[in-house]
Amino acid sequence: MSTFHRLPIVLFLFFFNAGVISGQPLAKEKEDDLPKDYLTADFHAGRRAALRSIMPDNSVMVVFAYPTRTYSNDVEYLYHPNPDMYYFSGYREPHSLLLIFKEEQTDADGNKYKEILFVQKRNAQAEQWTGRRLGTEGAKEKLGINMVFNGNDFKKFNINFSSFNKIIFDKMPVDIPNGWDNADLYDLIQQFKEKAAMPEKLADDKRFDTRLYRDLTAQLREIKTPEELYLLRKAVEISCQGQNEVMKAVNPNMSELEIQGLHEYVHKKYGAESVGYGSIIGAGENGCILHYMENSKTKVGTSMLLMDVGAEYHGYTADVTRTIPVDGKFSNEERQIYQLVYDAQEAAFKTLKDGSKWADASAAAQQVIAEGLLNLGIIKNKNEVSKYYPHGLGHHIGMDVHDRGTYDKLKKDMVITIEPGIYIPEGSNCDKKWWSIAVRIEDDLLITETGYELLSHFAPRKIEDIEKKIVEKSAVDDFKLPPLESGKKKGF
Ligand code: GLY
Ligand code: MN
Ligand code: MN
Repeated sequence: MSTFHRLPIVLFLFFFNAGVISGQPLAKEKEDDLPKDYLTADFHAGRRAALRSIMPDNSVMVVFAYPTRTYSNDVEYLYHPNPDMYYFSGYREPHSLLLIFKEEQTDADGNKYKEILFVQKRNAQAEQWTGRRLGTEGAKEKLGINMVFNGNDFKKFNINFSSFNKIIFDKMPVDIPNGWDNADLYDLIQQFKEKAAMPEKLADDKRFDTRLYRDLTAQLREIKTPEELYLLRKAVEISCQGQNEVMKAVNPNMSELEIQGLHEYVHKKYGAESVGYGSIIGAGENGCILHYMENSKTKVGTSMLLMDVGAEYHGYTADVTRTIPVDGKFSNEERQIYQLVYDAQEAAFKTLKDGSKWADASAAAQQVIAEGLLNLGIIKNKNEVSKYYPHGLGHHIGMDVHDRGTYDKLKKDMVITIEPGIYIPEGSNCDKKWWSIAVRIEDDLLITETGYELLSHFAPRKIEDIEKKIVEKSAVDDFKLPPLESGKKKGF
């Protein structure tokens, strides 16, 4: 980040408020410079129509943007939109509000509409600092929504929430600051509460319904449309290519951070903007920490390396884990634990099809692991299985890595993970030859009418296939950087 960008916020606000800088509106991004496979306005319109078809009569759904969050002083975390806002509108900016009505509405001038979007107002100065805004006109043109207003119009906007039988909304954040803008998320939420006369305790007025919000969004988002499947397939394949490149490049002198960087470089090379969750690169004992994200080990050494990394492509995230022996060969113990996890995963796969139960897949995997650990003498009783397999079997993926969805029956066009694992931390109550072995194998699958499609087949899972992949040459093998001058002497 340049020093220019780091001008103190006070100075920035002074100029901004005093109107000293009269910025030019930024030119629009050229279409040719952008990816060609974003979700379309038709997709989002289709999702709103699907939502309306399951909303109760005379109801309105209220979707707020996610808050922005401080990363450091006046620098914010990279903004991640609320997936529901993105899903139902395509709008990806903060400080916004979407209202979706079950029935068509008519305003005082006779205009008909089924949804209203309140967006961030265009502002040349702000856009020079934090990026382009679509604004009302851009949103109408790009998102195909005809009723779009600036956020600061919401306050005086004439809408009678008391006329609806149901006001469907998600739990709202309570810890957001009231910023300098009079139409930021804080203001939009306050204005909504006032307009809708929302009671302190929601239970006091059954019209306000947060449970229905989750039911409806889960029902829709758990079944992927062809447009979503296209993006998910891409996210998963990209993640697998990251795994493959690391398998080829890995050596015991690499650091966990370097390996993280290689995965994420491959993702970005293929156009994936982000990761769906913090990348987990755990060598040896670190693999036992389920959501280990420090990735601070400077040499991964010759132990097993657990890598749980998911590329996010145009808002859809994969979630793929591979566990590999860094020295290229599974030791006896590593092989036995790995094979057990593999067999558990295969047992779960066999249960999968349209109409099968999550619980059956979970039981199948758990049974294999419990029996296997018992046979290896790692546990004395099958009930102890959760000591070494402490998490669930899987989850939906989509716009969220743990995506909205139900966990009863599996249905065609759901995309899920199946991710059994065994983690044996140092000091465990078993022979110490097993200590520090951690294995998770996580794959992403599309449920079909008769079974499943293994979307993450691009990265090897079988022991022999992993061992073969590790000896392949990587483009990165010859990537050398000079040693750092500043690392030579400490000077204190
Ligand atoms: N990467 C998070 C999970 O596997 O659920
Ligand atoms: Mn997962
Ligand atoms: Mn994962």
